[in-house]
Amino acid sequence: MNDYAVLWDWLSFGVRWTHVITAIAWIGSSFYFVALDLGLRQRPGLPKGAFGEEWQVHGGGFYHIQKYLVAPEQMPEHLTWFKWESYATWMSGFALLAIVYYAGADLFLIDRNVLDVSAPVAILISLACLAGGWLVYDLLCRWLIGKADTGLMIVLYVILVFMAWGLTHLFTGRAAFLHLGAITATIMSANVFMVIIPNQKIVVADLIAGRKPDPKYGKIAKQRSLHNNYLTLPVLFLMLSNHYPLAFGTEFNWIIASLVFMMGVLIRHYFNTRHAGKGNPTWTWLATAVLFVIIIWLSTVPKVLTDEPKISSAEQALVASTHFPAARDTVLSRCSMCHAAEPVYEGIHQAPKGVKLDTDEAIASHGREIYLQAGRSHAMPPGNVTEITPQERQLLVTWFEDAGKKTQQ
Ligand code: HEC
Repeated sequence: MNDYAVLWDWLSFGVRWTHVITAIAWIGSSFYFVALDLGLRQRPGLPKGAFGEEWQVHGGGFYHIQKYLVAPEQMPEHLTWFKWESYATWMSGFALLAIVYYAGADLFLIDRNVLDVSAPVAILISLACLAGGWLVYDLLCRWLIGKADTGLMIVLYVILVFMAWGLTHLFTGRAAFLHLGAITATIMSANVFMVIIPNQKIVVADLIAGRKPDPKYGKIAKQRSLHNNYLTLPVLFLMLSNHYPLAFGTEFNWIIASLVFMMGVLIRHYFNTRHAGKGNPTWTWLATAVLFVIIIWLSTVPKVLTDEPKISSAEQALVASTHFPAARDTVLSRCSMCHAAEPVYEGIHQAPKGVKLDTDEAIASHGREIYLQAGRSHAMPPGNVTEITPQERQLLVTWFEDAGKKTQQ
């Protein structure tokens, strides 16, 4: 048995689980504080230095929160920091990126028809994109701080569109979307790690030393936290997009990604306006719906293939295997009615999850997934509708493991 593939799959699931949990904690607290901030009320008689307050009811009790802009007079005895939610989300996210896209670079990261590079080169490009995104963003924010908030956001948007286009010319569509999300999420997390928390630490140090803290630190932190707020929803879309080939695998995927950022900003604008008690801009929902329809339409434009597909050495080993003809017959008779460019199975209108198993190359390039979905587990065919036999499953296992041994030799 290929213990390695099984263990690896569980590692991937475990890290993904962790990543979702930490992201819920981060985004949850971030949404909470944005809403809290916008809902603060002023009244006469607030303590010195307090900017506003809010009453809330939750979980069987009342909460009375006051916000001190810049800082309170003295350092409070107990102070809760919110930072590990963000750091843990980034670290688990990076681990997942490495497990899925770096370890599986040939399958998920590199599209040889887009950019024919080796796995190490592709991984270096990926790391450079993550670091480069942050450096460019951070420089722009420093230059334009306090000058034009909206102008800055427009500049950032143009850069995002350019990145979306660029990434689809470096990686597979799936990896391009994931990287756009990962670059944005790295910016968000670095905002917390490199700007927001260090600035707060300066203020705390001033308080302890009895100095009056400079309000500029709070202002800078606020700008970054506003950006984080607007970036959250698009990042979630991009992180989930790898399950939806129509989003990432079509001709105009980079335009789709660009429109998703607009949708995210519009929806946040609605909630931010409401929480601030400044009205009810329902037009944002209409605009979002229009954008969504445009996205759906764009996703129907098929991808134009320019080159002959190129296949990797692992894939060549799978095709060259003596078990390949039998494995192919099994896949063609048990899977291809659904997993084809034009499925014939009733109710299936396109290859599920974009997995097409109708040519030798396609079967080889999905060898590992076939092995896990139909060989080692019984996830496929769903409900065994096409009645694959235990012998055929065994055959798929032998085919994959055998070819794996050959490439390792
Ligand atoms: C009746 C139609 C049907 C048949 C037959 C079928 N599949 Fe699928 N397959 C699906 C559907 C639907 C999904 C999407 C499941 C989901 O949304 O989680 C899927 C998903 C997959 C995936 C992607 C899993 C993922 O989560 O990324 C793989 C790989 C796969 N099938 C392989 C196979 C193999 C191998 C066979 C033959 C042994 C097979 N399928 C037979 C319908 C089918």
